[in-house]
Amino acid sequence: MAKTRTNTLYVCSHCGAKSHKWVGQCSSCDSWNTLDLVTTPVGSPTLPGDVVAPARLAEVVTKASERYQTGLSELDRVLGGGIVPGSVVLLGGEPGIGKSTLALQALGRLSSHHETLYVSAEESLEQLALRYQRLGLKSQELTALCDGQLENLIAELDKKLYGVLVIDSIQTLRTQGLESSPGSVGQVRECADRLVIEAKRRGIAIILIGHVTKDGALAGPKTLEHLVDTVLYFEGDTSSRFRLVRAWKNRFGSVNEVGVFAMEANGLKAVKNPSAIFLSGTETESSGTAIFVSQDGSRPMLVEVQALVDQSSLGNPRRLSVGYETHRLNMLLAILHRHAGISLLDQDVFVNVAGGLRVLETGADLAVAAAIISSFSNRAIDRRTVFFGELELSGEVRPVPRGEGRVAESAKLGFSRLVIPAANKLESRKVVEGLSVVSLRSAAELNEVVREQRDQA
Ligand code: TYD
Ligand code: MG
Repeated sequence: MAKTRTNTLYVCSHCGAKSHKWVGQCSSCDSWNTLDLVTTPVGSPTLPGDVVAPARLAEVVTKASERYQTGLSELDRVLGGGIVPGSVVLLGGEPGIGKSTLALQALGRLSSHHETLYVSAEESLEQLALRYQRLGLKSQELTALCDGQLENLIAELDKKLYGVLVIDSIQTLRTQGLESSPGSVGQVRECADRLVIEAKRRGIAIILIGHVTKDGALAGPKTLEHLVDTVLYFEGDTSSRFRLVRAWKNRFGSVNEVGVFAMEANGLKAVKNPSAIFLSGTETESSGTAIFVSQDGSRPMLVEVQALVDQSSLGNPRRLSVGYETHRLNMLLAILHRHAGISLLDQDVFVNVAGGLRVLETGADLAVAAAIISSFSNRAIDRRTVFFGELELSGEVRPVPRGEGRVAESAKLGFSRLVIPAANKLESRKVVEGLSVVSLRSAAELNEVVREQRDQA
């Protein structure tokens, strides 16, 4: 019997880098003992596919951008109008946040019009069926495959032309070519690589579910972000009912669009008017709280920023931030020190964005700074006040985009006082009537505005 010759390759299980010989330390990420042996038969290309020739772009026949609608309006919006055939979507989030629920709901509806397959290596068929029934999904057509072997899945794809596929999750899939265990970076990368090729080749839309570690990075799948067409992340607190799905990357739609869902007894429901859901709803004013009106994608949303400034017992005081970038927090503290005379060198500073949200906009600077000054000076900010605006290193306040929409939304929700950049006030002339608007030019002015508030003690 002829012996099959094989190519040997070593893949780093930490960063996915490839090497032709084994070395103790990965030359790419410097990790030790992370190289795994991968064998592929000689002659079989590492990337399956036919030989391709260049073509003139003007002559390429393009199909009208076809989209499969999931029927979940918020998800379709984040995707840019539905899922594109042949595209790969990475759906990331912490365990228990609702990834499987959302994917199953979407697939359940898609299955009435397309061949669909739910691949799960995490749950048994019975568990999936229970969830399916609990979600009240009616389609008789949705099929599921409970297996984590990539080769078995590809064999199934050869048998039937599928339209949409869900992989739950990419960390539990494994390929025979690699010796490392499922979930290692090498396995995750290799499986995803292969699935992306299959999606393009067969025109299947694939949703890859990926678990995110507590620090917010997709474990392993971080390296997949550039491979896939769309990256969606779940945000929110598992203890709260509301969930946000944010587009981080989208080749077929705009990024930073968010979809809002509420987790109910029978699955995720779209929230059409989400602007006020993340506010705590409390009427009592306390120092250290400021409300920011954010605008992610097409909709403004009100977000509560909390800060606690407390005497530090450490030589190196703590600066901790959840939901707002720590680097930016450090920058704000330097601006407040230099330009508003607020020295917090001996204070611990903690910042938290309520509801498990992540604020990415620099327009949150004023609200974060206001919450910090409020906590430090023990002045409670009137709860009908909202803030938005960016702080520059020079201590000046910079306007933010789409100020008018933010002002209008705040007014609609009963906020009567706005502390905003002067330029945004000018631009919002038409909508500010009846509101009390403080236009700010500098960090020092912000300090004065907060200190004019009632002393909480
Ligand atoms: P799940 O989709 O399993 O999360 P993930 O796949 O991201 O790990 O769902 C998470 C939680 O949602 C789980 O704790 C139970 C809850 N849940 C509901 O509240 N209602 C429902 O209809 C379903 C299916 C789940
Ligand atoms: Mg799950």
